[in-house]
Amino acid sequence: MGRRKFIAGNWKMNTSRESAVQLARQLAAHLGRVEDVDIALCPPACYLLAVHEEIAGTRLALGAQNMHHEKSGAFTGEVSPVMLCDCHCTHVIIGHSERRQFFGEDDELVNRKIIAALSHNLNPIVCVGESLDQRESGKTMEVVGTQLRHALVGVRPEQLRDVTIAYEPIWAIGTGRVASPEQAEQVHAHLRSVLTSMYGADLSMVIRIQYGGSVKGDNAAGILAQPNVDGALVGGASLKAEEFIAIVLAGVPA
Ligand code: PGA
Repeated sequence: MGRRKFIAGNWKMNTSRESAVQLARQLAAHLGRVEDVDIALCPPACYLLAVHEEIAGTRLALGAQNMHHEKSGAFTGEVSPVMLCDCHCTHVIIGHSERRQFFGEDDELVNRKIIAALSHNLNPIVCVGESLDQRESGKTMEVVGTQLRHALVGVRPEQLRDVTIAYEPIWAIGTGRVASPEQAEQVHAHLRSVLTSMYGADLSMVIRIQYGGSVKGDNAAGILAQPNVDGALVGGASLKAEEFIAIVLAGVPA
């Protein structure tokens, strides 16, 4: 059905200005002309412009890791969608589990941010995922389904095309405990069925659903081969050029 794979690197609160530039430069050199896979780099906000300079004119896109939903105002310490656009961002990660867990972001705030991102022509990467407790008590599908429905309240069908979903089981993030390809596929298929119930089959078939959680160069191919896995949101392994390159190359169609 031709959904092009989409690999995004979430650098989290890592790198220095120097190492961010160096990583971006290496990735631009190796991946800047890769076709058939979409790629985004999401550095810390203070390095967005420096990374942009390295990837401008290549096929690598720039994304932020978070944003405030207002355009401007008295919100000390926050960064607005207008500012992200001004820094050449085309993407923004919204509702990462670390934002939900450590910064109190709930489904309603996540929804507000998604609506704001879309209204500024930023493509949101919307994260959902269950905790280990929730998985072990058989609540995974309910939890991720509820998160997805809430996240997309008020998102119009024509806007949905700009949305990427990222399924990130919390127990797999930064733990080295990757979901098996079958576990990922099961949840991705469920998320697509939720999209179908909200927007119809035609539209749900074009929306990309990334998997995130301990994706590495040596496990990416198996996960990306699943029919409903359309890419990866990569944390730790996105900080090493050779690992990230291997993950992207695993997404190139045979
Ligand atoms: P990880 O993080 O690849 O280090 O597990 C993924 C993420 O949190 O986006």
